[in-house]
Amino acid sequence: MNRAPDLGERLLYQEALSLTERAYAPYSGFAVGAVVVGPSGRSHHGVNVENASYPAGLCAERAALAALVAFGERRLRYVAVAASGGRDCLPCGMCLQALAEFGDPEVIAQVGGEVRVTTLRSLLAAPFVAERPVAGVAAGATSSEARVPRVPCIGEADDDGDTASDEAADDGGVASGGGSPS
Ligand code: THU
Repeated sequence: MNRAPDLGERLLYQEALSLTERAYAPYSGFAVGAVVVGPSGRSHHGVNVENASYPAGLCAERAALAALVAFGERRLRYVAVAASGGRDCLPCGMCLQALAEFGDPEVIAQVGGEVRVTTLRSLLAAPFVAERPVAGVAAGATSSEARVPRVPCIGEADDDGDTASDEAADDGGVASGGGSPS
């Protein structure tokens, strides 16, 4: 169900923990940092960003997810999340749903005072998955515009017939940290 982290996973957790210093959490005082990693191996960072209008606040995991997608990746391999002050923090339900759109990553988080690794699907067994709209259903749209580029679940073929692991192989090895996708 869950296991101890290996060295790389422990480092990802430490990276998330150090990000908590940049969190903007003046209302809750609960500073969160998140690191997500896709096929490139590059870390994408997020922190929680609260707001005077409380529901406008953003969780760290979804901030990190937006950074991964903006970089050009659409697969998740690892999600590390950490709260300041030695507190436990697992991704909230909304973040689990948002993350599940992009696969079934390992989730690295502190639970019961210990850093543990589990899978996203073990935390959210049945995420909501939309039907793909029929191509051309949007008035005047070309078939490619009408198609939602939803990524398949791990092991499921996408429109090109590639599985998630094929695509990870296509994306090559670890990126060296440039400003654009390789
Ligand atoms: N928060 C996160 O950033 N991630 C989570 O998974 C749980 C909660 C943030 C939202 C809010 O800014 C603060 O923690 C307290 O709920």
